[in-house]
Amino acid sequence: MTSDVLIIGGGVIGLAIAIELKLRGANVTVLCRDFRAAAAHAAAGMLAPDAENIQNQAMLSLCWRSRSLYPDWTRKLEELTGLNTGYWPCGILAPVYQHQDEKNPSLSPSSPESPAYWLDQAAIHQYQPGLGAEVLGGWWYPEDAQVDNQALAGVLWATAESLGVELKDGVTVEAIRQQQGQVVGVQTNIGDMRAAEYVLATGAWSNQLLPLPVSPRKGQMLSVQIPEFVPELPLTRVLYGQDIYIVPRRNRSIIIGATSEDVGFTPHNTPAGIQSLLQAAIRLYPQLEHYPILKFWWGFRPATPDELPILGNSHCKNLTFAVGHHRNGILLTPITAALIADLIWSQKSDPLLANFHYSRFHRQPSTSPTMLTHPANFSNGNGKNLSLQPSEFSIQDSGLIIAGKTFKSRLMTGTGKYRSIKEMQESVAASGCQIVTVAVRRVQTKAAGHEGLAEALDWQKIWMLPNTAGCQTAEEAIRVARLGREMAKLLGQEDNNFVKLEVIPDLKYLLPDPIGTLQAAEQLVKEGFAVLPYINADPMLAKRLEEVGCVTVMPLASPIGSGQGLKTTANIQIIIENAKIPVVVDAGIGSPSEAAQAMELGADALLINSAIALSENPPVMAHAMNLAAVAGRLAYLAGRMPVKDYASPSSPLTGKITG
Ligand code: GLY
Repeated sequence: MTSDVLIIGGGVIGLAIAIELKLRGANVTVLCRDFRAAAAHAAAGMLAPDAENIQNQAMLSLCWRSRSLYPDWTRKLEELTGLNTGYWPCGILAPVYQHQDEKNPSLSPSSPESPAYWLDQAAIHQYQPGLGAEVLGGWWYPEDAQVDNQALAGVLWATAESLGVELKDGVTVEAIRQQQGQVVGVQTNIGDMRAAEYVLATGAWSNQLLPLPVSPRKGQMLSVQIPEFVPELPLTRVLYGQDIYIVPRRNRSIIIGATSEDVGFTPHNTPAGIQSLLQAAIRLYPQLEHYPILKFWWGFRPATPDELPILGNSHCKNLTFAVGHHRNGILLTPITAALIADLIWSQKSDPLLANFHYSRFHRQPSTSPTMLTHPANFSNGNGKNLSLQPSEFSIQDSGLIIAGKTFKSRLMTGTGKYRSIKEMQESVAASGCQIVTVAVRRVQTKAAGHEGLAEALDWQKIWMLPNTAGCQTAEEAIRVARLGREMAKLLGQEDNNFVKLEVIPDLKYLLPDPIGTLQAAEQLVKEGFAVLPYINADPMLAKRLEEVGCVTVMPLASPIGSGQGLKTTANIQIIIENAKIPVVVDAGIGSPSEAAQAMELGADALLINSAIALSENPPVMAHAMNLAAVAGRLAYLAGRMPVKDYASPSSPLTGKITG
């Protein structure tokens, strides 16, 4: 019998959709490549929209709705199978180590349906004995909960089986056949299969079948056992700390997670990953250090560029997407199943789905020249908007690749010299940058404008480039680079080994010391750093730094903070000509035209701080710099016309069309 619906992917999302459709009367088949590999088995099972501090309103609504479905949904599954899902409305406590303004609602989502309560130092230690001494307060999220994700996966499989869903484990879909905007079948390792409707629920592996922007984000985890000498459960709620969560189960195990690593499908647990988890867990809840370890494991979250799922209709009329749930797959399972089943079986499209449509990735403003459909609207002064229409052309650009990591944006910014943190945040957002450099020494000494930096930017989205500004010698720079690596780790970037190396002995002209820079670079490369040295525009030095293993060179355009523009053009050109690593023009750029000019020369990227921070309207200037970087890059790729000595008519006399 041909199924009404064929679901590609047998993780919790695929199974839950299958169950909803079956309950509505559909014949459903689920194709599962390897049930055990699904992210659901590796998760912690937190139902934590509040603790995860989700900022996107549509996503928050989706998550809250899903969390509210959990009690009835799990009860129904348990009744159907007689099995337990481990659903536990235990609440989540989120301790912090730094003082926060508890009156600032932006620090934590709170609404009548999902309240958040601030507990001060005395209250939190009384409420939850055993927390680390450094805990200074925290948020209590009573509505957040947990489910035993492994049990849930088993219950979903058993439910689907008992309802008569056709479950095929060990079947690999090799291709989705499409004709004229329709899926006409799937090719699998056991032959072709057909259905009227298809659902893609393939998690982190989605982009192996269709060009969707879903990539794996590895999470390492471990569990410990509560020893027998502790008779009662010492924890009866989830602890959600900085870069760590601790999830107690009723069976006396405790789950500890998780790293977030952009390493593709690299398998295995690593000492660095597990060490960072153990350190953070013991800091938060010290008695764990005596608990026996049960096991270690890892999994792959399906991440999208905006960290929101891709749900709903696709480019084919009988194919529906349910992928990219990133950190919230277990939480979003019931709502995804309900909305997707309604869409397929009753053609009912919930308004929320519009926020998660795949096409958003083709519309977004981007600094990537491959995406030329920039939806910017400009007023023409008569109150009318001039809209840039999507272009038909495209040009290939692989993005900026530094030490094997790819960035779409070719503009890097900094955090210094802004008039306020808010202005800095808005400017960083408007710049579209993905790399922000941070002065480690200024953060360490809490210099003006550098307090609260950890919370000010979303370090899950922005790659931190710690810099050694303020270091006058190679030794100092090496020491500060090591601190920078720790700082990035504390902010959740466990795999961040980048350092922008600055060795600047002279305080008047702020010119980098070439010898000290080379010495420090050699040492840091040996210690495993990805070194991005800031240098005078010296082609020989650039070459030497490349030879010792630096991952970029960052020549200055003119003195730092001077805004004098491109004064070293000829040398930068030589550096670009000879470098096999990216050349990032750093320092001195004062205006967007200069930024564009540096990119036209063939620079791979720019680092701009003062010209944005010291402008009259930094967010607008940041946006202008973003556009300039894109324009300059496009111009470079397009290839400018040669400069000629004499005029040449625009309408040549030869080859013209004559009547
Ligand atoms: N939901 C927690 C995580 O993805 O690590």
